[in-house]
Amino acid sequence: EEFDFGMVGLGVMGRNLLLNMADHGFSVAGLDLDAEKAASLENEASEKHHVKGTTQAQQFVTLIKKPRAIMLLVPAGKPVDAVIDSLLPYLEEGDIVVDGGNSYFPDTNRRVQELESKGIHFFGMGISGGEKGARFGPSMMPGGNKAAYERLRPIFEAIAAKINGEPCVTYLGTGSAGNYVKMVHNGIEYAIMELIAETYDLLKRGFGVADSVIQKLFADWNESELASFLIEITADILKKEDEVTGKGLLLNYISDTARAKGTGKWTSQNAMDIQAPVPSIDAAVQMRDISKYKEERVKASELLTYDTKDASLDETALFELLKDAFYFSMINIYAQGMAQLTIASNEYNYGLNLEEVAKIWRGGCIIRAVCLEDFRQAYQNQPELPNLLLDEALATKLKTTQQAARDAVKLAIDKGVPVSVFMSALAYFDSYRSETLPTNMIQAQRDFFGAHKYERIDKEGVFHTEWN
Ligand code: 6PG
Repeated sequence: EEFDFGMVGLGVMGRNLLLNMADHGFSVAGLDLDAEKAASLENEASEKHHVKGTTQAQQFVTLIKKPRAIMLLVPAGKPVDAVIDSLLPYLEEGDIVVDGGNSYFPDTNRRVQELESKGIHFFGMGISGGEKGARFGPSMMPGGNKAAYERLRPIFEAIAAKINGEPCVTYLGTGSAGNYVKMVHNGIEYAIMELIAETYDLLKRGFGVADSVIQKLFADWNESELASFLIEITADILKKEDEVTGKGLLLNYISDTARAKGTGKWTSQNAMDIQAPVPSIDAAVQMRDISKYKEERVKASELLTYDTKDASLDETALFELLKDAFYFSMINIYAQGMAQLTIASNEYNYGLNLEEVAKIWRGGCIIRAVCLEDFRQAYQNQPELPNLLLDEALATKLKTTQQAARDAVKLAIDKGVPVSVFMSALAYFDSYRSETLPTNMIQAQRDFFGAHKYERIDKEGVFHTEWN
């Protein structure tokens, strides 16, 4: 028997994706050096599920139908190269290798080059949605050789999450386009997560609102234009009792030092390289970093005290204000990330279609939200739209919610609660909508101390002045 698809790495993601494929009638083979994992996959075989597990690379490769389609789901970095090396002796021209991990996009570019020189197509593909998504419908972001994608398309379209019957997967672009889009997805993920955390902090620490009330608020928001996976799980988190002590919410026992695997940081780092401003993603990365300095924060909390100002605001008004402020900030966050994609697409010749990106983010992935449909429409109306803030329908919504965003930030300032993402989203909005910025001053200063020259608004050319 020949198998439709092969997977290397039978951890929970690899295994679940294969089982998802098997559910859809594809025959699948899995390779893992761990014999238990290979055997446990094969245990899932049945009359309807054509599933095989093996620990032998050569046997595995020969099992797959040509041109072979093989996905790797192993930790990013060296393990990916090691697996490629172990498969290479058995691969043939026209075969396709798909890296489904969160690989760093320059690594993918290198691998594409190395493998294309051998006639093998290499795809970097972001996969979002966690374990459940992999099993029952992820969002997938593949990039690579366009013609070769046709071999993968029927399988990926079958297993992807669906919105109105449309699969949350599409060919995105050349080279590392898929990894890049997933990287920015994660940057947006960081910022929205932090936005939610700041909302919770302002309510709880700033205004003394009870956890149960905050829970209800997020549950309500999830029935509104804020509906999204991250708001939904936040409402669930605020319900989960602690099983260890049997007393109160689990959340209140969880350490406030956040970890990160690095994709958010890469988003910010590369954004700086290509001059794509994403201040809210930067702020979200930085807040995780600040959370690391627990001991210093404890000391500083005793030293740097502040008597918070009373804000007389009834709960209903506060909740309405925060809802609008959240909506406003959320749009600004997606706008930053999606503008980064547009800039990166020009820089790296990815050929991204932002409407398609918005479309496949509507379901399956961690940043899925009802507003993605608005973004899809914005890019459908104007395929060359450089920034979502320039879409008329979104602009109308931003204008009606901006006052709330301003008021929410003022409240947070008076309460001494840090809301870096709310603030950065607002500052982004205000700078983006500024016809003139004080950057003339920067230019004058550069010329003053370094003779770096400046341009004038009334004449062509570059100028230098002897300032004193
Ligand atoms: C997804 C997630 C997934 C993973 C993140 C976590 O889309 O399914 O983004 O890829 O959970 O990598 O990232 P951090 O460990 O950096 O928070």
